[in-house]
Amino acid sequence: MRSHYCGQLGESHIGHEVTLCGWVNRRRDHGGVIFVDLRDREGVAQIVFDPDRPDAFAIAEGVRNEFVLRISGQVRKRPAGTENPELATGMIEVLVAAVEVLNRSDPLPFQLDDTDIGEGVRLKYRYLDLRRDFMHRNIRLRHRVAQALRGFLDGHGFIEIETPILTRSTPEGARDYLVPSRTYGGQFFALPQSPQLFKQLLMVAGFERYFQIARCFRDEDLRADRQPEFTQLDIEMTFVDEAGVMDLMEAMIRTLYKNVIDVDLPDPFPRMNYDEAVSRYGVDRPDLRIALELIEVGDLMRSVEFKVFAEPAKSESGRVAALRVPRGGQLTRKQIDDYTSFVAEYGAKGLAYIKVNDVGRGRDGLQSPILKFLPDEVISALIQRLGVQDGDLIFFGADHASVVNASLGALRLKLGQDMGSRESGWKPVWIVDFPMFEYDDEIRRWKSLHHPFTAPREVDTVDVDPANARSRAYDLVVNGSEIGGGSIRIHHPEVQGKVFAALGIDEQEAREKFGFLLDALRYGAPPHGGIAFGLDRIVSLMVGADSIRDVIAFPKTQKASCLLTEAPSIVDDDQLRELNIKLRKPVGTSPA
Ligand code: AMO
Ligand code: AMP
Repeated sequence: MRSHYCGQLGESHIGHEVTLCGWVNRRRDHGGVIFVDLRDREGVAQIVFDPDRPDAFAIAEGVRNEFVLRISGQVRKRPAGTENPELATGMIEVLVAAVEVLNRSDPLPFQLDDTDIGEGVRLKYRYLDLRRDFMHRNIRLRHRVAQALRGFLDGHGFIEIETPILTRSTPEGARDYLVPSRTYGGQFFALPQSPQLFKQLLMVAGFERYFQIARCFRDEDLRADRQPEFTQLDIEMTFVDEAGVMDLMEAMIRTLYKNVIDVDLPDPFPRMNYDEAVSRYGVDRPDLRIALELIEVGDLMRSVEFKVFAEPAKSESGRVAALRVPRGGQLTRKQIDDYTSFVAEYGAKGLAYIKVNDVGRGRDGLQSPILKFLPDEVISALIQRLGVQDGDLIFFGADHASVVNASLGALRLKLGQDMGSRESGWKPVWIVDFPMFEYDDEIRRWKSLHHPFTAPREVDTVDVDPANARSRAYDLVVNGSEIGGGSIRIHHPEVQGKVFAALGIDEQEAREKFGFLLDALRYGAPPHGGIAFGLDRIVSLMVGADSIRDVIAFPKTQKASCLLTEAPSIVDDDQLRELNIKLRKPVGTSPA
């Protein structure tokens, strides 16, 4: 139907007869001549209706925004002074000879160039929201990312294999989405939280190198970087160790960045221990664009009068840490109060601080409500350890280590942003040497930090000393976002049994839930390992989106619903009866 894309016309086409199809982006009536910006997926071209062509002109008079047109005409140079250098097609226009209205459009619920549209409206009319330039760019970049990854993996001998969507629960730590079975009344499929077990079975099956761009489903609390339904680039390999997986995967990510956005990432990526990351940055996904660091000061505070510091300093599970903020001395009382409220969201009971006016004068050069509680030797030790300079502000966190880490970890990100001290660019880092388990105080049990199929380093003692067990896992973090995680897996059934035991899963439960895996491990399972990347997160980082919703064509809301199709929805009684399901509470009440 067309000879060219609107957005691809240029001066080389001057004099050519062209036929274009697209949407009316904007129509301007200049009394006598009508200009239309015609838009297709490649961009916009200015088309001109002249009254000399009365048939076409009459039609143009009735045209409105977002009408779908097909026009033919001749490309000409724009008259001097009317060029638009901002626009790729800004040197030319098309003088219309004939026009056909392919479809009309009602006025849109929002203007496509409006930058302040509520997300509710955007998601309800997603097909219109997607018409916008930046959404097109995001979705098309996502396509290029997927193609670049496929190309790399195919080139390295990986085989793309699909795994089931209707399956059994795969434990990745979230709640399952369940699908009732009609044929087996009262029984349910679970949607996969990841293809973890299937990819391991593919290694047992001897494929050696597998990948899949896999949809995963997790019913968990949503945030800007989490969707209930999201996409992983899922990968598994046999006869590899940690270095084998990590080296190849970072080569893949470097190639991806180079090919898609022409960015050179470091070679190799730095690697950091989990303990070091938590100690210096408070989190296991540090944003290394921000130089601020948490510095341990607990040892200095054990015997100070100030109980707020002394108690956590003396406690096994406590932590006292300081954050030295260069130029922080400029912060006003109000700003410090705001930061105090900010850290309160992470459970911090306060945010002690010291302003540094003149280090040379020791105690007298400092300013703080807590100075009176700190003896001279503690103050000089602090000054020394923190490398304090005039104009600094020092913040302190004192509490359970988890509260200090979460609150000062978040504060460092906020300060980096607020004070403009965050570097630009890309900072990848591998986090390694994770603990195998973390203790869940609520259920009073050890839980896997990754998943239960991750190989322990200490194979012999993992069940008797879970507190000290380290795993063979690795996460890839870019600019403070965890873009991927994986591990070397357990391939001996006895070791898998020990890990289940450490998790409080007895033999019977292990058999019931993972019998098929335990069986498979007994038939010559090779050593294997892999990783999965969050594709949505990778793309959203590349385009600088605020939320992964901006790189997913049809995302769910923060409350896990689809405003466009209005899913989830109630179903007919007949359907429920067929599925042998009776609702415990009437529709519309919240779940028990
Ligand atoms: P994990 O649970 O770490 O590992 O997931 C891998 C990556 O997927 C992304 N991700 C998400 N992205 C968007 N929304 C979510 N709700 C969401 N949850 C996770 C993250 C994360 O790094 N089977 C293992 C991988 C393996 O061991 O090979 C797994 O699923 O970027
Ligand atoms: P208070 O003795 O409660 O008046 O606190 C003195 C200073 O210590 C105030 O600046 C508080 O914000 C701060 N503070 C209180 N509790 C903590 C805590 N757990 N961690 C860090 N600072 C705190």
